[in-house]
Amino acid sequence: MTEFIDLAALPRDFAWGTATSAYQIEGAVAEDGRAPSIWDTFAHTPGRIDNDDHGDVACDHYHRWREDIALMKRLGTNAYRLSVAWPRVVPGGDGEVNARGLDFYDQVVDGLLEAGITPSVTVYHWDLPQALQDRGGWPERDTAEHLAAYASAVAERLGDRVTHWATLNEPLCSAWIGHLEGRMAPGLTDLTAAVRASYHLLLGHGLATQAIRAAVPDARIGIVNNLSTVAPAGDRPEDVAAARRMDGHTNRWWLDPVHGRGFPADMLEVYGVELPERPGDLDTIAAPLDWLGLNYYFPAVVADDPTGPAPFARQVPRPGFPHTGMDWEIDASGIETLLLRLTEEYGARSIYVTENGSAYPDVVLDDGTIDDTERTRYLEQHLAACASATRKGAPLAGYFAWSLLDNFEWAYGYDKRFGLVHVDYKTQQRTIKGSGHRYADIIRAHGGSLGGSDRAA
Ligand code: IFM
Repeated sequence: MTEFIDLAALPRDFAWGTATSAYQIEGAVAEDGRAPSIWDTFAHTPGRIDNDDHGDVACDHYHRWREDIALMKRLGTNAYRLSVAWPRVVPGGDGEVNARGLDFYDQVVDGLLEAGITPSVTVYHWDLPQALQDRGGWPERDTAEHLAAYASAVAERLGDRVTHWATLNEPLCSAWIGHLEGRMAPGLTDLTAAVRASYHLLLGHGLATQAIRAAVPDARIGIVNNLSTVAPAGDRPEDVAAARRMDGHTNRWWLDPVHGRGFPADMLEVYGVELPERPGDLDTIAAPLDWLGLNYYFPAVVADDPTGPAPFARQVPRPGFPHTGMDWEIDASGIETLLLRLTEEYGARSIYVTENGSAYPDVVLDDGTIDDTERTRYLEQHLAACASATRKGAPLAGYFAWSLLDNFEWAYGYDKRFGLVHVDYKTQQRTIKGSGHRYADIIRAHGGSLGGSDRAA
């Protein structure tokens, strides 16, 4: 059954996009002066990634970007969220800028604009130059300053054509999953390192915001967080307290400081780690933003777990809720709740859903098509929830489906496919899936729901 999506609720100039990130699609890891990042190191460490997959070739987007822009056009999208690879632009992490690395993004930006697609550039999507990791990485303050210098180089080169910027993608994953749970690069399991990393990521965000504004006066700058709705698995007081901690860990730790509220006091107590704070840092972190990015995938329903890592809460599956191929519970109402929370509790004036999507084990049929009905349903349900939130007052300005292409899904390698477009990794052949065709229909219908073909691009 097709889900009703109240498309007329969405603004006329709504950004309809897809999203990707550099390491997940580009490949060409040793070309044109690129140096290794922490993800090259992590992926080439045996046992870290399913099937020992790595991003050496990925979707070969570095050489096939023209074809990929043509796919975006076929989908009818008017926006594209990409990330720039720090190790291409400043291979040593700080110091010399590699012009050839910037040349690549320069061409991609021109190609997008020629195709009528607005680029949205994310400065940092997890690929820290290994050279900086060797000097301590995110737990060290210098890394935040180096991020700002790198952001400045990118903004100076692309800022005459790119106005839409994000500093960080999902700092939660860099800090908590990379430094506390160890499931992502750099693979540490150290609470002190994780808290320090989280602090310096947010400081880097503030410094990078200043750097981009200095280079691009009309820039529209935001930060991209992956947030979850959080509920206790039951009414035991321990579970209610666990939910509060999980909300602090997942949501408030990342939102409060950026909104000038400082780091949540309850979480400082939970972590018990002193912040490496210097005078003025909190003001830097709270640099005014133009928009907030929401990445939403699943809700968190949690029970107390005193033996686990901070925040001492574990996910509990709810009976009756379906799961994606990532085993993530599906609850589209979560995206609506979060859009309204950002609006009401944090006063957001402009929000983009910067990622949302689902992985399933796709089957290519004999006729070459991919009939991914579950992904299509996930897309429709979440778009319906976005439209509903907009109707209720959320200032939603755009939606970026994760992802344009199947790609390197970090520790899960290539088995988890999130694309609206299927990639045959042996031949690099791209095929638009059923969900991609449905997305194109929805985008077209939005133009129609606004009364004709004059929808602003
Ligand atoms: O693939 C990732 C992306 O890099 C960041 N957000 C979540 C996606 C799916 O796991």
